[in-house]
Amino acid sequence: MNVLVTGGSGFLGTHLCGELRARGYTVVAPGSKTADLRAPRSLERFNDLRYDRIFHLAAWTQAGDFCLYHPGEQWIINQQINTNVLAWWHSDQPQAKLIAIGTSCAYDPQREAVEENYLAGVPTESLFTYAMTKRMLYAGLLALSKQFGLRYLQVVPSTIYGPGYHTDGRQMHFIFDLIRKILRGQRYGDPVVLWGDGRQVRELVYIDDFLRTMLALADTVENENVNIGSGEGLTIRHFAQTIADLVGYDFAKIQFDTTRYVGALYKCLGIRKLRALVPDYAPLPLEDGLKRTIAWCTEHMDRVADG
Ligand SMILES: NC(=O)c1ccc[n+]([C@@H]2O[C@H](COP(=O)([O-])OP(=O)(O)OC[C@H]3O[C@@H](n4cnc5c(N)ncnc54)[C@H](OP(=O)(O)O)[C@@H]3O)[C@@H](O)[C@H]2O)c1
Repeated sequence: MNVLVTGGSGFLGTHLCGELRARGYTVVAPGSKTADLRAPRSLERFNDLRYDRIFHLAAWTQAGDFCLYHPGEQWIINQQINTNVLAWWHSDQPQAKLIAIGTSCAYDPQREAVEENYLAGVPTESLFTYAMTKRMLYAGLLALSKQFGLRYLQVVPSTIYGPGYHTDGRQMHFIFDLIRKILRGQRYGDPVVLWGDGRQVRELVYIDDFLRTMLALADTVENENVNIGSGEGLTIRHFAQTIADLVGYDFAKIQFDTTRYVGALYKCLGIRKLRALVPDYAPLPLEDGLKRTIAWCTEHMDRVADG
């Protein structure tokens, strides 16, 4: 099978390309230096293959409060990336099934985060632009499928965690930030200060669970949008307590700074559709996933701890 992956150099893309190559697929995964997707026709030079699948992962974003301070750039860049990739798919590789990655940020926090609500209501204000560019990506899939019969799958992950996260100074997703701070507290005695009162609810999906499920759906499901999460929303306090217990740090020492940005107060995906499509879906228990992630962070402590 011939597969093109955008965003193949990122956290998710690195794992995905490894898995696809392990399955024996031919994988083409240009980074932004070889194919800057802001430019039209940047994928043209990869047309010597006819692709069976296009995994579209590339997006210009970071976690934390990044979206709050870059809405204009995010609107321009992500609209360019998505438009150029979908236009190339339509004109040059229409036989391919395109698998796109949505975001849980697209859901209106006042509504249940189930697939039929993906385009309903208004996303959290601080994440509005990023969320709306992801909604437009989905609108593009719907439009191209409707008019030209192109085949797609969109998957919407909750926060993905596991080994192999980036350590280049970009803002981290909350779970890596928690691990980093608590490891630093334990190792160097640094104060551990978490943003908000710790009652914000978040959900995780382990990288291997996400990949296995996305690849299974890519083979079996067409023209659908499917949430992939653990289905279990937990407070930041709960995550912090579990990490502290696993690394042997006193949870009572953790401080909560209620003046800091916390984003959405509640984020947890409904996964009824996923369970119907994949009846044997059994995500890795949180403690096991955290142990593996902490082990990786500890091994890469010099880089992770210095963020
Ligand atoms: N990680 C999560 O928890 C999570 C949750 C929900 C949704 N998602 C979605 O999943 C996808 C992958 O996430 P990730 O965590 O792997 O992100 P990431 O590590 O930040 O990777 C982003 C990727 O996009 C590429 N990219 C950015 N601008 C580009 C451009 N102008 N041209 C070409 N490529 C460009 C980057 O390439 P370079 O390295 O060359 O810059 C990188 O490979 C994204 O669409 C994200 O929105 C992720």
